Amino acid sequence: MIDWIEIGRIEDIPRQGARVVRAPEGDIAVFRTQDDEVFALADRCPHKGGPLSQGIVHGKRVACPLHDWKIHLDTGLAVAPDEGCAASYPVKVLDGRVFLSLKVAARAPACATG
Ligand code: FES
Repeated sequence: MIDWIEIGRIEDIPRQGARVVRAPEGDIAVFRTQDDEVFALADRCPHKGGPLSQGIVHGKRVACPLHDWKIHLDTGLAVAPDEGCAASYPVKVLDGRVFLSLKVAARAPACATG
């Protein structure tokens, strides 16, 4: 069973942007796409730890503000040819309210150590 934490309303997250949720595991960036889809990733770029929450969302990818790596929002994987992964967390929207689980959902092999 998943423990969901309510983190606010979808309107609190700017379209094509993110807001940061502070967690014992570290900061988590909760992104909102242009189409109002919501994704959550560790707020650390797999390249050199840049704050992904400050990047711009294009489609289902976010561009890291430091060196412009692109990260898939659904898997946390860097877009090739770059390699690496940001941990991905379950997130859902119910009646405009956003819920996050701190249980890491999907870890691609490249992300095995978080
Ligand atoms: S730290 Fe994100 S691209 Fe370098």
